[in-house]
Amino acid sequence: MSESKKITYKSGKEPDAREYRLIFRNIDREGWDPSLDCYLKEGGYEMLKKALKMEPKDITEEVKKSGLRGRGGAGFPTGLKWTFIPPNNTKPVYLICNCDESEPGTFKDRYIVHQDPHQLIEGMIISCFAVGAKKAYIYMREEFPEAAKIVEKAIAEAKKKKFLGKNILGSGFDLEIYIHRGAGAYICGEETGLIESLEGKRPYPRIKPPYFPAALGLWMCPTIVNNVESLCHVKHIVEMGGDEYAKLGVARNTGTRIVCVSGDVKKPGYFEIEVGKVTMRELLYEMCGGPKDGREFKAVIPGGSSSKILRCDEKFNLKNPDGTERELNFWDIPMDFDTLAACGSMAGSGGVIVMDDSRKMSWVLNNINHFYAHESCGQCTPCREGSMWMRKISDRIAGGEARPDDVALLESVAYQIDGRTICAFGEASSWPVEAIIAKYRDELIAETSEENDYHSEEQTLRESMLIRK
Ligand SMILES: Cc1cc2nc3c(=O)[nH]c(=O)nc-3n(C[C@H](O)[C@H](O)[C@H](O)COP(=O)(O)O)c2cc1C
Ligand code: SF4
Repeated sequence: MSESKKITYKSGKEPDAREYRLIFRNIDREGWDPSLDCYLKEGGYEMLKKALKMEPKDITEEVKKSGLRGRGGAGFPTGLKWTFIPPNNTKPVYLICNCDESEPGTFKDRYIVHQDPHQLIEGMIISCFAVGAKKAYIYMREEFPEAAKIVEKAIAEAKKKKFLGKNILGSGFDLEIYIHRGAGAYICGEETGLIESLEGKRPYPRIKPPYFPAALGLWMCPTIVNNVESLCHVKHIVEMGGDEYAKLGVARNTGTRIVCVSGDVKKPGYFEIEVGKVTMRELLYEMCGGPKDGREFKAVIPGGSSSKILRCDEKFNLKNPDGTERELNFWDIPMDFDTLAACGSMAGSGGVIVMDDSRKMSWVLNNINHFYAHESCGQCTPCREGSMWMRKISDRIAGGEARPDDVALLESVAYQIDGRTICAFGEASSWPVEAIIAKYRDELIAETSEENDYHSEEQTLRESMLIRK
């Protein structure tokens, strides 16, 4: 990427001094547009030229060295995932870019596809070259109609310049990228549901094992599914080299990532940070301007709605590498995969949802339960019926109609979903419930009353017999 003059921003909003803009360098940038001409002026597709001169396995090696972990939710190492394609494979290999961006609280991929589509396309071409894919798909959520047009145009531009199509830049490598529009379902973000949808079927997630996409994916062929942001990083890894890239961030949690902060802060928005180099305190008080006037922070969901909630007054006992323990205060949590996991939550998709003391936890819980009850694909019973049942119970709690034992009932339903379903949606819907109850049980019980006697044995039985409203 060529060095350029000082960047100014259309919104007038300068990045925070703690940010490190690698992926979002051109987002909101004055004078920047999604055209190929603009991209080429800034050194666009130079990394593709560099990559095409490398051995595909060496690109994978650089990605492994970089330590890049997927930015879609699970934080799985990208280079390692690429090596799961069976070595003796004779079938076609596919690459799918997951642009479903459906996790509540997450709003990063949309900026890339709307404003910097060629960064994604370049990252995808390099990734396809590395894994040997000659066909790639961008699975784009229905709610991005404008982005679909923008990326479609960008693909056509890239094709015209021979960055895509047959014999790319004379390298002998062929690649076509297609956009596939979703129809607005959260479960299409789950990689195997996505693959089923791409094949033209209902997006029923597949059972893993055996359907790990890298071995048995699209049309039962090896398929690499990566998030938009993850694929963009590949271009920068080729530019910097894996070792240099790995110097960004902290050990095992390398590079930059975009965190999306929403909810009760003065300045919500996106921030690209070095992974693990910014603490919760710095993010919320300094970068986001602190709580709204007269309010105090109460809780944070750090990685999209499916991650477990953290109380702002919590303390955690963490293990050091040498086996000793240390206490970590919520505010000192560095925003990285491993520490958030050690604190019982996850970095997930980078969607940080902040709640202040004006928020009742019964409302938060009920809001989340409504989402998951609506989005369950319905394939497996614990999830289909459990998510609906959890919503009904939390409707009662939030509506002041619950009995105290409803809280325990809700908790038990969550634990009967968790770990018993085909896909991780089961955990995504039950973890928030488990964590909110564990951490705010008294607050929830305080909203219930023994007087609410309509909740009889019979009603519990009827609910457990799965009768819907
Ligand atoms: C219910 C559910 C929804 C998901 N939604 C998304 C999504 O919208 N975007 C995404 O990139 N990954 C999503 N994922 C994760 C994908 O299954 C997959 O792990 C990811 O796309 C892999 O890309 P990465 O390794 O680059 O992170 C979701 C997972 C689950 C269980
Ligand atoms: S866990 Fe839920 S979303 Fe996933 S397959 Fe089962 S019913 Fe569908």
